[in-house]
Amino acid sequence: MKKKVVSVLLTAAMVSAMSVVPAISVAAEEGDTITVGFSQVGAESDWRTANTESMKATFSEENGYELIFDDAQQKQENQLTAIRNFIQQEVDYILLAPVTETGWDTVLQEAKDAGIPVIIVDRMVDVSDDSLYTTWVGTDSLLEGRKAAEWLNAYATAKQIDAKDINVVDIQGTIGSTAQIGRSQGLQEGVDKYGWNLLAQQSGEFTQAKGQEVMESMLKQYDNINVVYCENDNEAFGAIDAIEAAGKKVGSDIANGEIMVISFDTTNAGLTDTLAGKITCDVECNPLHGPRVEELIKALEAGEEVQKLNYVDEEIFAADDTVDKVTATNSLDEEGEYAVTPITQEIIDGRAY
Ligand code: AHR
Repeated sequence: MKKKVVSVLLTAAMVSAMSVVPAISVAAEEGDTITVGFSQVGAESDWRTANTESMKATFSEENGYELIFDDAQQKQENQLTAIRNFIQQEVDYILLAPVTETGWDTVLQEAKDAGIPVIIVDRMVDVSDDSLYTTWVGTDSLLEGRKAAEWLNAYATAKQIDAKDINVVDIQGTIGSTAQIGRSQGLQEGVDKYGWNLLAQQSGEFTQAKGQEVMESMLKQYDNINVVYCENDNEAFGAIDAIEAAGKKVGSDIANGEIMVISFDTTNAGLTDTLAGKITCDVECNPLHGPRVEELIKALEAGEEVQKLNYVDEEIFAADDTVDKVTATNSLDEEGEYAVTPITQEIIDGRAY
């Protein structure tokens, strides 16, 4: 494998969050194969599978890439090993979907010293010097959490449900991951703002099995749960199984004993459950990052400047039309209005994941 990175021009090390950064590599000559090492979190969820497929389909041989793919099985130490292997293999680009935000400074410094651009995908890294990575593309998890919380408030208001009667449990994602931090914070802000009762929070590690286990134990501990905030669809599937196995009904009619499920991702199965009324609100987290990352690589290859942070636009789907829009503030402190779309089979059929 021949290393093709020939120049490093990283002069604006202290760039701010939304600033444009200079391209740091002029890599392969036109027609050369570009080698990318991709350290993927794991295969914990339907979302993750769709994300892996998108990356593999984009970084294919026929598109001019050699992809070295590593599945870290949700362990940061595996990701550190994979990145060090990519450095040894002298790849042209390192793509990292980090399991958690912290713990990357040393290995990313090693990549920088080797002159290999690093593109962070999906979740973020929390590093002391943001010149340790070239660019990031992913979701605004805090905005997602805020959208869900504002939707719950709007729904409760429309149905005249008193905030004091909302008893919510939070099945969190992998603790320390951007998706968990943002979504948990969005809920906490809703609790503080509107006065819901947050009965319990526990990680379901973004998996169906753990989501089910956590829900079973929460149902044993609390007999008044009426909202379950699941931090991804797979946890929601597990939670729904646990609720139904306990002889209770999932749905939006919480005034009459149903337990409302709120979720994130909007995978095909998640939206199918939304159409069936089992998930009442599903906030999108779009996994199709392959083409977005390729666009960044092409810009870098052309010596163009790229944005440091690249947020993806995402939607909100609901089981009914009670709430048609919410207002929420994103991570850049910009307030926006977001439409809520009642889900239909046609919408599900028209989606790529
Ligand atoms: O970081 C994105 C999250 O990770 C998705 O919500 C979840 O399904 C995945 O495992």
